[in-house]
Amino acid sequence: MPPSFDVRLDDLTGARAESREAAQDSDSILAGPPSELGVNKSPTRQNQRYGDDASPTRHSPAKVARRAGSQGYSPPQPWAPTTKAAGDDASPARQSQHHGDGACSTHPVLGDERTFYIETFGCQMNVHDSEKVAGVLLGRGYQQVETVDAAKLVFYNTCSIREKAAQKVFSRLGEFRKHPDHGKVIGVLGCVAQQEGEEIFERAPWVSLVCGSASYSKLPTLLAQLEAGNRRVTGLDTDTDETFETEMTRRDNPFRAYLTIIEGCDKSCSYCVVPYTRGPERSRSSASVLEEVRKLAGAGYSEIQLLGQTVNSYRDPAPRGKTFAELLVTVAAVPGIRRVRFTTSHPRDFGRDIVEAIDSVPALCDHVHLPVQSGSTRVLRAMQRTYTREEYLDKIALIRSARRPISVTSDIIVGFPGETERDVAETLSLLDAAQYDGVFAFQYSPRPNTASLQMGDSIPEEEKGRRLAIVQDRQREIQVARNNELVGQTFEVLVDGASRRPGQWTGRSSSNRILNFSSPHSDLLGQYIQVRATGASPNSLVGEQII
Ligand code: 5AD
Ligand code: SF4
Repeated sequence: MPPSFDVRLDDLTGARAESREAAQDSDSILAGPPSELGVNKSPTRQNQRYGDDASPTRHSPAKVARRAGSQGYSPPQPWAPTTKAAGDDASPARQSQHHGDGACSTHPVLGDERTFYIETFGCQMNVHDSEKVAGVLLGRGYQQVETVDAAKLVFYNTCSIREKAAQKVFSRLGEFRKHPDHGKVIGVLGCVAQQEGEEIFERAPWVSLVCGSASYSKLPTLLAQLEAGNRRVTGLDTDTDETFETEMTRRDNPFRAYLTIIEGCDKSCSYCVVPYTRGPERSRSSASVLEEVRKLAGAGYSEIQLLGQTVNSYRDPAPRGKTFAELLVTVAAVPGIRRVRFTTSHPRDFGRDIVEAIDSVPALCDHVHLPVQSGSTRVLRAMQRTYTREEYLDKIALIRSARRPISVTSDIIVGFPGETERDVAETLSLLDAAQYDGVFAFQYSPRPNTASLQMGDSIPEEEKGRRLAIVQDRQREIQVARNNELVGQTFEVLVDGASRRPGQWTGRSSSNRILNFSSPHSDLLGQYIQVRATGASPNSLVGEQII
């Protein structure tokens, strides 16, 4: 889920289950920053994003226990996926509506059985949306369970950023075909819901709810309709100016709280479905953000991660509202808050004031995720990224001019239509120039409703794979060198996982590096401690607690 620079110890109880799942999906690379979507992809040997867009996160009460290091937990086992592929022919309805009355054999009613299971695919925004959905359900008297089998209501919160990610939900839904008498009420949330709309009912008639993220504020109404016995309900508006704020959010991580400050995206990168699936940008008022931060601090959270597809495009809707940099400073000043992260930043809106804020406020984490996507100005133009290679590198220079070192991570797409060998060479030379601490690299995936769909998909998959490997190899070399330079340094680490091996722990630095370390102490979870790095791998550091 949250950004990581790599692998945790193999036998860590904290993050291991998530890491393994993510690793299976990983089409990308090294290191684990969030992606432009604030993606959470977990570490693998060489390609550690925490929580790939395509990687499921199961939101179960046990997760908290796992993170808290409880022993002997076995991850929930939903039915294994077998079926195939979402098509790209989206034709979502735009209205919130309900269809038909009463139950039928393929549409069990909710009745009094109030148990739910939710599985999340994709970015941190999705993970956090699921936390909010869980909050809505808990507020209505539902109980969260760990497996599909144990649930009456089954929700999939989906991702459609790349085709592989979108296919996953149809695999999950296909499992119900094998169990026609499952007796469950099934809902599809998120980007695939928005993209495919009511066609989901055609492909999986046993689904009862389809709701895109821009319509989550309607969820209570939609749930009430389901509880009243409606067979099918949809929420597919994207023209809402509402953000999804709930009375109660069920947070899965006991130390770090996610908080969405801006939803949707107004940029129109030619390859990206997000503006279509998540709608236009809507910022929360700084007053409501601060109120929630105070509550979170009161509840014991010491680290806040502010989320948005383009988090630094934040515009306070209040008159004479705060700039994004001012909001960062104010959030960091809330008593009890020790760390503030933010993701994902768009280069166009990344200014000196953000660097100055990080420089002057120690609680602002020294990490910026600033996706470049390509090192070639020609490709950047085709991607409609709104900056040139040189302008991007100026932003990097700005970050490097800070008084304290700030780690920088990025996203790269290879195989964009028309990308030449020369363009790839420019991406490689940008990696050298930017000296990232982590990169997520992806093979271009044509998506419905995007401008680049018209450009064809001219680079064969095999060639995309070759380019991906070249980018990954170069970045790995850079990370090896950078991490080796950190050996001997001391980091303040928030401990968030325990190993089954006694005395072994894991945590993250402010710069979001993962440190796997030894300590003679027990009960370190949630504590901030000093760790000296004694060794390095491409994606993480090993160390020992300084006593
Ligand atoms: N194909 C491949 N990668 C994509 N991304 C977004 N859209 C696509 C696509 N169509 C990548 C970008 C973005 C990250 C979240 O996913 O690098 O920053
Ligand atoms: Fe990021 Fe561009 Fe997609 Fe917006 S349109 S989410 S800026 S990649």
